[in-house]
Amino acid sequence: MGSLLIRGGRPLHGRLKVSGAKNAALPILAGTLLTPETTRIHNLPHLHDITTMMELLGCLGVGLTVDERLGIEVDGSSVTNVRAPYELVKTMRASILVLGPLLARFGEAEVSFPGGCAIGSRPVDLHLKGLEAMGADITIEEGYIKAKAPGGLRGADITLETVTVGGTENLLMAATLARGTTVLRNAAREPEVVDLAQFLIAMGAKISGQGSSTIEIEGVPALQGCDYTVMPDRIEAGTYLVAVAATGGKVRLEGVIPTHLAIVLDKLREAGADISIESDAIELDMTGRRPSAVAITTAPYPGFPTDMQAQFTALNTIAEGVGRVTETVFENRLIQTHEMNRMGADIQIEGNTAIVTGRPTLRGAPVMASDLRASASLVIAGLVASGETVVDRIYHIDRGYECIEEKLQSLGADIRRQTS
Ligand code: EPZ
Repeated sequence: MGSLLIRGGRPLHGRLKVSGAKNAALPILAGTLLTPETTRIHNLPHLHDITTMMELLGCLGVGLTVDERLGIEVDGSSVTNVRAPYELVKTMRASILVLGPLLARFGEAEVSFPGGCAIGSRPVDLHLKGLEAMGADITIEEGYIKAKAPGGLRGADITLETVTVGGTENLLMAATLARGTTVLRNAAREPEVVDLAQFLIAMGAKISGQGSSTIEIEGVPALQGCDYTVMPDRIEAGTYLVAVAATGGKVRLEGVIPTHLAIVLDKLREAGADISIESDAIELDMTGRRPSAVAITTAPYPGFPTDMQAQFTALNTIAEGVGRVTETVFENRLIQTHEMNRMGADIQIEGNTAIVTGRPTLRGAPVMASDLRASASLVIAGLVASGETVVDRIYHIDRGYECIEEKLQSLGADIRRQTS
């Protein structure tokens, strides 16, 4: 089990290049299963989850060639197996995203039923209901989702009861090869969904409405190979902006799409940060200033992203005033607050809201990560705290943040990895 040792209290300064988006790369890699031709995907982040998805594709028989910059060439002609095994799915829930593509192209798929995780039960009922509406027969046997559509999938008019990113992505991919037209209503509008749609269109899919809550897909007989570059990671970018704001520093992020972070930038301005944006860059300056507390309520895009909630909770712990953070997307995503209180924060939980009374600073302490974004928020707390913080179980962090200690060291942080 690795851990990060952080000596906090230093303002962060410098510039960073943002990596490719994990949550766009994962569905796009799954989408390569939709064609027997070769696809080339560029700007993949060096993350454990990406490696796991590549391992899963390999296990399905796909030919993979990785180049020196972790660009990947996928040969979909050699798929020999439509079963995504428990051993891999248990390490990464996003494995469920191979269900739609396998079913659409091969008429059958078996995917281990993904378990819940620290932030919630994470059901996939809407994925399955949508596929059944498209003609799939689905049973759950020995912990596996077994889906069959021997005559292929057919287009359907589907209204999603809850806005679901993964559900929208699975059904979007399945619909590209269905007979007829599919309409997805109450669809997720996240930029990662749009990036997936653009990738599918590059393969020859007929899709319109991506980025709105109604997506229309006209099925085609087959998809072709293509070259595609994954969008920048808006959550990685937001995480570093909050870390610099919390430590009273200054940073320039490059290779980012500011419109993907509109509401996050508004909240950082509300906290007192000076922010300037260019077409593919964001500059934040909080030099010598203590942030003001902000109120956050998470919601599907374009609302405030749940994946940025923990980071802003950390910012509020040392802000001027009382901040309120309400989590509406997942049922158990305020867990990091207990670890922050061990660092001297003053956070009270009322239902799905954290009331955060800002303190001038935090005290370093040994803390334990529970999920990807909670881990990032504990790193931010450690960067702010006086003294030493050891964030344990950082395999959570390695799933979603490429080279986090190197990137923070380049901004002047005193942080290093230790194997314990
Ligand atoms: C994606 O998860 C992201 N993961 C998550 O990021 C992100 O937090 C989440 O979307 C919300 O934006 C990837 O893209 C790989 P959902 P996903 O389906 O698709 C309920 C990170 O930190 N729901 O949009 O699993 C569900 O319980 C990760 O990078 C159903 O009820 O999220 C939740 O309450 C964490 N039935 C809500 O919808 C379903 O069939 C939103 O979940 C599906 C979802």
